[in-house]
Amino acid sequence: MIILKSPEELQKMARAGRMVAEILEMLKEVVKPGITTGDLDRMAEQWMLKKGAKPAFKGYRGYQHSLCTSVNEEVVHGIPGQRVLKEGDIIGIDCGVIVEDFYGDAARTVPVGKIAAPLEKLVRVTKESLDRGLAQVVLGNRIHDIGHAVQELAEKEGFSVVRDFVGHGIGRQLHEDPQVPNFGKPHTGARLEVGMVLAIEPMVNVGGPEVKVLEDGWTAVTVDKQCSAHFEDTIALTEKGPEILTRV
Ligand code: MF3
Ligand code: CO
Repeated sequence: MIILKSPEELQKMARAGRMVAEILEMLKEVVKPGITTGDLDRMAEQWMLKKGAKPAFKGYRGYQHSLCTSVNEEVVHGIPGQRVLKEGDIIGIDCGVIVEDFYGDAARTVPVGKIAAPLEKLVRVTKESLDRGLAQVVLGNRIHDIGHAVQELAEKEGFSVVRDFVGHGIGRQLHEDPQVPNFGKPHTGARLEVGMVLAIEPMVNVGGPEVKVLEDGWTAVTVDKQCSAHFEDTIALTEKGPEILTRV
């Protein structure tokens, strides 16, 4: 069941979203060769608590951290720890908070120092595919128009989109209906309505779309070990039109 949000609820979600956007901006600045994924997680948690937000991922299905940090061939749900980032890596940072009972959820893939040109292209195209998806969030469209737009660009540029993880509705729960795949047939799926809030999150691979989850039960990696990028934004369809909640 898709839960539509009132204007008052959308205002609260905008506050949660803004907080996530600000924290991701700060994290982007501290990503450098030599820093560990655990360092990023500790900083993020401190900032969340200082701003009066709760880390949304901590405690979610037993997850123990405030961020997911996914490096290179890791697609999503990488666990922060001792791993030291090195020049040429890419790191997907996924961040969620709860503010006044509502969730905000967003992710960015950030280069570590200077990265190879093909990886730069992967990061740019993944971001652009998210933008294409977000642009589909208008009245009259349906859910799979979003995934279709994402897939069209990613595949045109020679990449593949992950099928096993999808975007989602978001509100008082991190994951609400509807699912928002990053692929699909245009003009199908639920109709978009005022009050819907969606987390759109393309995962785009250099190689094939196949992923598997490691023994830690969380970290999703590409089967062919080639790199993957992930961007996510939370967007609301308000009475005044679409509003991306997780950008500064
Ligand atoms: N942002 C991710 C999502 O949308 C991460 C959630 S997994 C968690 O699904 F356990 F870390 F919360
Ligand atoms: Co999400």
